[in-house]
Amino acid sequence: MAVLCSGGDAPGMNAFLRAVVRLGLNRHHRPVYGIRDGYRGLVRAARQVGGDGEALIGLCQDIERQVGNRGLIDAQQCIIQMDHASVSGIMGKGGTILGSARCLEFHKPQVRREVIDLLEKLQIGGLIVCGGDGSLSGARLLAQESNLRIIGVPATIDNDLQFTEMSLGVDTAVHTLVWAVDHFIDTARSHRRVMVLETMGRESGDLARMAALASGAEMVITPESGPMTEPRMRELAQRIEGAMTRGRGHAIVLIAEGVKFEPAQNRNGAYVLRDAFQSYFGREGAPFPDLEVRPSVLGHLQRGGHATPGDCILAARFAEEAWKSLLDPQAKSGITALRYNKVEIVPFGCEDLPERAVHSRAMDTLHDDLANW
Ligand code: F6P
Repeated sequence: MAVLCSGGDAPGMNAFLRAVVRLGLNRHHRPVYGIRDGYRGLVRAARQVGGDGEALIGLCQDIERQVGNRGLIDAQQCIIQMDHASVSGIMGKGGTILGSARCLEFHKPQVRREVIDLLEKLQIGGLIVCGGDGSLSGARLLAQESNLRIIGVPATIDNDLQFTEMSLGVDTAVHTLVWAVDHFIDTARSHRRVMVLETMGRESGDLARMAALASGAEMVITPESGPMTEPRMRELAQRIEGAMTRGRGHAIVLIAEGVKFEPAQNRNGAYVLRDAFQSYFGREGAPFPDLEVRPSVLGHLQRGGHATPGDCILAARFAEEAWKSLLDPQAKSGITALRYNKVEIVPFGCEDLPERAVHSRAMDTLHDDLANW
């Protein structure tokens, strides 16, 4: 069995790798091979071997010679036989010890064929792919095009995979955002400012809305609530100004990176919103002409850092279910998912959880009703 992390790193990936390796060795007595740099590592190894028998022997010898940490240290080694020590002390560490990558080449059927051939030659019958949307699409194609047993594991801070209630990394990213808001509030309060903070999340607003609910940020703007237009921005600015008139001194506004503007903008949303707010607050006869707005794009800060206990526990639960499915001769390829708080395997291309959208809307309403306007 082999395991790889793919796409953007997410906190909890290391806890997942640890759990996969330890369950493999301790409970199931199976060797586990770690693939470096996601699909890219597999493609590199497949190219290295090609149709050459000697190169294949060379690769196998390297894997046997450099086991565990020795293999991990050698950046050229793409396939590493994992041992107990190689996953020691990594539980909460952010990132992934195997490395991760976005591999555009993997979209080509011929490239996937090369990888399937390699895995077959190495007698690796199962592959666990830990990653987000694109990575799991690659896993689905591998499952369709081979006899390999493929298990996908959702890991992305975006929480945009609608078949699972939570993906690995979300809980930690929300914690990090709460921490960030706590820091920005200090300046917002001291200077009576409006802070506009842009979160990640691609097309999904889940990360921003969860962070807003958990941090108490005054306002959250998500892609799901539709495009941002001039009148909408004015309305939001009016809302803030109204609250200031009633004695409020500052405001924290979260805007998800996926929010679209009409007319379209080629700048980060936080800056567009800053300009719109600032010109509204500075208009002729405004009650708070000195009110300042400061934008910040929080960026990759949200992907790093120590994984929360919540993510580490989910990682262990996903790993256990992945092994269970891999070893069940009746089971099929699929993805681990948290549904109704239970971890299960769902088929690739499985229906979205309808509750996810309802839940998001309910969170928005709840946040609105909790805000102090
Ligand atoms: O999918 C995770 C994510 O962090 C998104 O929220 C963000 O849009 C993207 O990845 C950034 O990707 P990269 O690290 O390749 O710039």
